[in-house]
Amino acid sequence: MLFTEGGARPDLVETLSLILPVTPHNLFGCSETDDAALARPAPVQVAAVVAEVGLADIEVARALRRALARHRPPGSPFVCLLQDPDPEETRRAQALGPDMILDASLAPEHLIDVLLPIARSASGDENVPLREAVSRVAGTVAGLFQSARRDGRVDTRSVKHATGIMRDAIEADGMEAWLRVVQLVDEGTYRHCLIVAGIMTGFTMALGLERQEAELLSRAALLHDVGKACIPPEILGKPDGLTPEELQIMQRHVVLGHELLVAGDTGEVEPLVLTLVRSHHEYLDGSGYPDGLSGDEIPDAVRIMTLCDIFGALIERRPYKPPMPPAEAFALMEWMGGRLDRDLLRALRASYQMLAD
Ligand SMILES: [Fe+2]
Ligand SMILES: [Fe+2]
Repeated sequence: MLFTEGGARPDLVETLSLILPVTPHNLFGCSETDDAALARPAPVQVAAVVAEVGLADIEVARALRRALARHRPPGSPFVCLLQDPDPEETRRAQALGPDMILDASLAPEHLIDVLLPIARSASGDENVPLREAVSRVAGTVAGLFQSARRDGRVDTRSVKHATGIMRDAIEADGMEAWLRVVQLVDEGTYRHCLIVAGIMTGFTMALGLERQEAELLSRAALLHDVGKACIPPEILGKPDGLTPEELQIMQRHVVLGHELLVAGDTGEVEPLVLTLVRSHHEYLDGSGYPDGLSGDEIPDAVRIMTLCDIFGALIERRPYKPPMPPAEAFALMEWMGGRLDRDLLRALRASYQMLAD
C-alpha cells in the first residue's frame, strides 16, 4: 500500500512494482471515491505500507497518522519516504513509528536493495534469490530509464554491478529460470532488456567466453534499448502496428541511445557498448538501420547482439501477443536468410537447446 499526498509518482510506483503489487492511495483524496477506496480492504494482502510525503505541513503528518491507524495491519512494516528529509521532517516522521525513513529521491536500485528484505518476508516464493536478483537488475534498468527521461543523463556504473548479479543468478539457476522469472516483470521495455541480457549471458557462457568479455556483452544487452527512454510512451506502448511516421520515430532509439551514452553518461561506457547500442538493428544485407551497414562492416559482437535481440523479442510476451515457442522463433529467424549471420544463429540455437535441457 502506497500513501501519497497527491497522485502517486509514476516512477515510484514503477520501482515498487518491481518488488510487490502496489496499491496507491491519496492521503487527501478529498473525494468520496478516495475515502471509499481507503475504507475498502486492500485487494491484495498488505505486505508493507510505504508513504511518500513532505512533512513540513503538519496536516500531512496528521493525515498520514490517521491513514496508518486505519490501514496499517498490525505488524506490517511501514517505510516513510521523505521528499525533504530535514531534521524537523525527520522528527515528525519518527513520531509515526516507521521501520525505516528514507530519502524519496533514492535511486531505484538502492530503494530496491533496502526494501527487498521486507518483500522477502511477504512473498513466500520458492526461489527467493533468483527473484531478488531479477528485481535488483530490473531496478538498475528502471533507474537508467528514469534518469534518462528526467534529466537526459544516465550513470552506467550501476550496470556493471547489475551484470554481475545477473551472471551469478544464471550460473546458479540457469538461463531458462532467469527468462521465466523475467517474464513476470510488468514494464515491457525493462522486461525486454532483461530477456535479451539473459539470452546474451547464457549464449556467451555457452560459447566459453572469458567472464570479463562476456560481461561486457551482457552489459551492452542491458543497455541496448536505453534510447527508448527518449521515445514518447504512446508510441512505445502502442499495441498495434505503428504508422510509417511512428516507425521512424521508434527507429531513432538507436541514435538517441548512442547520443545519450556519449553525452549524458557519468560512467563512461566502453566503445564496444556504444557500437552495440547504435548498430543492433543493422542487417548483413544492408537493409537495417540507422547506418545501413552491411557484411564486414558489421562486427561479430553486433551480429550476436542482433540475434539475441530478435530472439528475445519473439519469445517474450507482449500485451498484444503471447510468447512464441523458441523452436518457432528460431525457424522464423532462419527464414530471415541473409539478413542474419547463419553460423552464429546456429550456435545460438545449439546453446539455447543445451541450456534449456
Ligand atoms: Fe532496439
Ligand atoms: Fe531490443
